[in-house]
Amino acid sequence: MDWFAAGGPLIAVRGIHFAATAVVAGTLVFGTVVAKPASLSEQPVARMLRTQSLRVASIALAVALLSGAAWLSLQAASMSGLPLGEAMTSQVLSTVLNQTQFGVVTEMRSVLAIFLAACLAFDRLPMAVWLALAAALGLTASIAWTGHAASTPGELGNLHLAADALHLVAAASWVGGLLPLTLLLASVRRDAAASASLARDATRRFSTLGIVCVATLVVTGVVNAWILVGSFHALLVTEYGQVLAIKLGVFALMLAFAAVNRFALTPQLAAASGNQREALQKLARNSFVEIGLGFAIFALVGMLGTLHPALHLL
Ligand code: HEM
Repeated sequence: MDWFAAGGPLIAVRGIHFAATAVVAGTLVFGTVVAKPASLSEQPVARMLRTQSLRVASIALAVALLSGAAWLSLQAASMSGLPLGEAMTSQVLSTVLNQTQFGVVTEMRSVLAIFLAACLAFDRLPMAVWLALAAALGLTASIAWTGHAASTPGELGNLHLAADALHLVAAASWVGGLLPLTLLLASVRRDAAASASLARDATRRFSTLGIVCVATLVVTGVVNAWILVGSFHALLVTEYGQVLAIKLGVFALMLAFAAVNRFALTPQLAAASGNQREALQKLARNSFVEIGLGFAIFALVGMLGTLHPALHLL
């Protein structure tokens, strides 16, 4: 099968964009609801975590901007039916940017991304952290207006857009937050000064955030699936349904790793357990595996958005 003809580049670029946007938002959410409260009593570590998350968010934002530009170019080529080189002309791009919903949303998201970059650059300014968080969550939720949710008409369309926007924010907060968590655990292992109690507190806070995100993902995912798939039969017999089913399988695997982290490993970080170092290592490894599974889901969703929804095929 010809990967290019099958839309491979568009699927890859969408997956990279979803993952990079999720890491930006997830890192800032993590900084606000996990790292900051957990490291309040450990100023040197708090400063290190802040620098670390700023670097991660900045690199991820650069990747989100580049993949966003590539997504626009590939979308212009597929909308115009022209080869990529010809579709990159100013005339075609300005038609896509000004006369399609995807184009208008992409313009608005680019402004949001530039504003976010300014907030990260001037993060010492008061309010900059909160403005950055709001911009990152807006950049993530607004992806809903570029996908299938944007083409569902009427009242059901509003429900679909709201569910999809929440779905995206929950996905970013959980999967995107796993990267700063893994870095924090690695820093605690490396830095004898940083106590295991910081890791225990941070892991507990993150797993509470994770539970809220998973519940939101399941509820909004069922809404998405109900509108776009409609039946178990369609889930099993259509290409769209089968890709979604694979996604749900990967999701179940992620939940298994998260459960081991929460119920088996986090309690071992307690001082009395005596094998904190080993538990820290396993927690970091499991979180790393979860990141890999989460990115696999972003790749699958990169593909889902290019397929005809199952409901329309039966
Ligand atoms: C870690 C877990 C998950 C992640 C990271 C994730 C991520 C995403 C992302 C990024 C989108 C794209 C939205 C768009 O293009 O507008 C999406 C769409 C979707 N998700 Fe999830 N999701 C997760 C779990 C779930 C679950 C548990 C379900 C079902 C119960 C689900 C069902 C769907 C459906 C049906 C769509 C719509 C796809 C489309 O626009 O064609 N997801 N998901």
